Amino acid sequence: MELIFATNNRHKVEEIQSAIGDKIKIRTLSEAGIDIDIPEPYDTLEANALQKARTIFQLSGIDCFSEDTGLEVESLNGQPGVKSARYAGNEKDFEKNIGKLLSELANHDNRNARFRTVISLIWSGKEYFFDGVCTGTILHGARGTNGFGYDSVFVPTGAENTFAEMDMKQKNQYSHRRKAADKLVSFLQNVASTRLKFE
Ligand code: IMP
Repeated sequence: MELIFATNNRHKVEEIQSAIGDKIKIRTLSEAGIDIDIPEPYDTLEANALQKARTIFQLSGIDCFSEDTGLEVESLNGQPGVKSARYAGNEKDFEKNIGKLLSELANHDNRNARFRTVISLIWSGKEYFFDGVCTGTILHGARGTNGFGYDSVFVPTGAENTFAEMDMKQKNQYSHRRKAADKLVSFLQNVASTRLKFE
């Protein structure tokens, strides 16, 4: 059993593959021989994730899923949200995005935020969604070097370290992406159990 994961972000692939285990082999876009940068033009994570999954399904004809994630900051009215990747510009530069976030938050005491992931799955011709949320707070400066994106300024609720100070196993105890991936796995185990031999 193989699924294409519509991404080339190795961090996302590692996080999702560790949730799914080795019963399902995930192929990235480059492993599937697909070389495109799929636009994310919509206003919701759901619409962008679905667009990515549909694009890849049309190109490959293979069951596939995509995910879209946003960082929603309470005192910024949910921004950067669906625009998280391009918050500081189209070059999708993590450091610039963090710089902009910290400067926008400079005068705010409320630093509550949450990551939200939406997975869109195309499975046997039908479309499904799974989501995952991780609440936390935004620090005043970056800490740690692991991970990607906003990891170095985000401390999940119940933790003392930023995601960037955690290894993947630790991040997965809190991760929005992991929660969404767990729902995807349950779906595949329950609905597709006749096609998959899970232990
Ligand atoms: P994407 O559009 O789903 O690739 O994600 C939007 C942006 O959110 C990414 O470019 C990252 O900056 C950020 N992001 C997504 N997931 C995470 C995460 O798990 N940790 C930190 N930042 C993330």
